[in-house]
Amino acid sequence: MASDSDSIQPPDDDPSSHKVGSIAERTLQDIEHEFEILREQAQQLLSEKLDMENKVAKQKQKVKRLEEEVRLMRMPPHVVGNIQDVLDDERAVVRSSNGTVFLVTYNRGIESEMMKPGARVALNQDTLSIIDVLHDAWDPLVMGAEMFEKPVTTFSDLGGLDEQISLIKESIELPLKKPEAFLDFGIEPPAGVILVGPPGCGKTMLAKAVANSTDCTFIRLVASELAQKYIGEGGRMVRELFDLARERSPSIVFIDEIDAIGAKRLDSATSGDREVQRTLMQLLAELDGFDSLCDVKFIAATNRPDILDEALLRPGRFDRVIEIPIPNEEARASILKIHMTKMPITKGVSIDNLVLGTEGFSGAELKALTVEAGMCAIRDERKKATKADFTAALKSVVKKRAEKRGEAPNSLWS
Ligand SMILES: Nc1ncnc2c1ncn2[C@@H]1O[C@H](COP(=O)(O)OP(=O)(O)OP(=O)(O)O)[C@@H](O)[C@H]1O
Ligand SMILES: [Mg+2]
Repeated sequence: MASDSDSIQPPDDDPSSHKVGSIAERTLQDIEHEFEILREQAQQLLSEKLDMENKVAKQKQKVKRLEEEVRLMRMPPHVVGNIQDVLDDERAVVRSSNGTVFLVTYNRGIESEMMKPGARVALNQDTLSIIDVLHDAWDPLVMGAEMFEKPVTTFSDLGGLDEQISLIKESIELPLKKPEAFLDFGIEPPAGVILVGPPGCGKTMLAKAVANSTDCTFIRLVASELAQKYIGEGGRMVRELFDLARERSPSIVFIDEIDAIGAKRLDSATSGDREVQRTLMQLLAELDGFDSLCDVKFIAATNRPDILDEALLRPGRFDRVIEIPIPNEEARASILKIHMTKMPITKGVSIDNLVLGTEGFSGAELKALTVEAGMCAIRDERKKATKADFTAALKSVVKKRAEKRGEAPNSLWS
């Protein structure tokens, strides 16, 4: 048995002792290798963490901005009224815009000669004290809306919008120039057109080109200016705007970014919303007061047709919708040509290649591309923009697009 057990004894120079050594060595190597991998992972996680922290900070800023916007929207609008009598240097009798008469106090900061019977004043909605005396004449915003100088934009500055140009010409220019033609055929021209499409594709430009091509008075207003903080003021401005259009006819009223007052009416509205809705109601009523054959025409523009109140699009109002889409290949080529003709460029730059590389770009982005390329050349003090300038410009515009998409992933048009 003993000899048996002897026979199992490992020989003196047992290789397993080497094995132990090599296992230890290998493990050490493995550990070092693993350590290296972990270190790299840690590095990567660290930079990811930094990146996330950055993003969180950005989002927090955005939340703050939106909260501020919500706060402003929730602020109660003020009430507007007319002074009937000034009793002493503290109290006055005011008839509010809905007809009720109040005895109110007024702010000592208001100059006494402005406190005259008949003056229009703004009242605090809760305390009803007079906080401001409003202009009596036509609102300066409305007066400022009339454009005396024609915009320099012409139809030839617009690329890829030939169809839209002829549509707007036949719905706006033709009825103004030849109303009798429509009478002869017994058809009613559209009262107004609305231009819808993604941002930066030429809606505002198209309206300006219409203004340039006609001899009518052109009245332009951005709708957010009508969303007023005083109750009844937005409606009054709309009324004045249309009075001005009538007085200066033949005229074209252009309301840009109409979604600011034309959004769907919701039940759960704050008082600020209700004021905006009243402004919209006034706009609808004013639009109905025009005959489609009269010499006042309307153009509106929006990049949010999804939130528009359908009432705006009914016959007799903005009843022709003209879509201004993201430019296709052909349109991109003509937009690029328009923006590149004034720029000195070396021969190697191919518009065809640029067109292929700019799928999905808006007109504004195509313009940004050419401007950026020009800037590259100016920076390097060269006389002409080269292919390399355009390649660099394309990269930077693509990067900006990606950043924008990141901010608004649910964008309607993306
Ligand atoms: N079809 C186009 N042809 C030439 N340039 C264009 C075209 N579309 C846009 N651009 C360029 O983009 C700029 C912005 O266009 P515009 O202000 O008309 O866009 P928009 O559709 O009104 O955008 P938003 O919805 O943001 O108001 C223009 O000043 C012009 O330089
Ligand atoms: Mg615009």
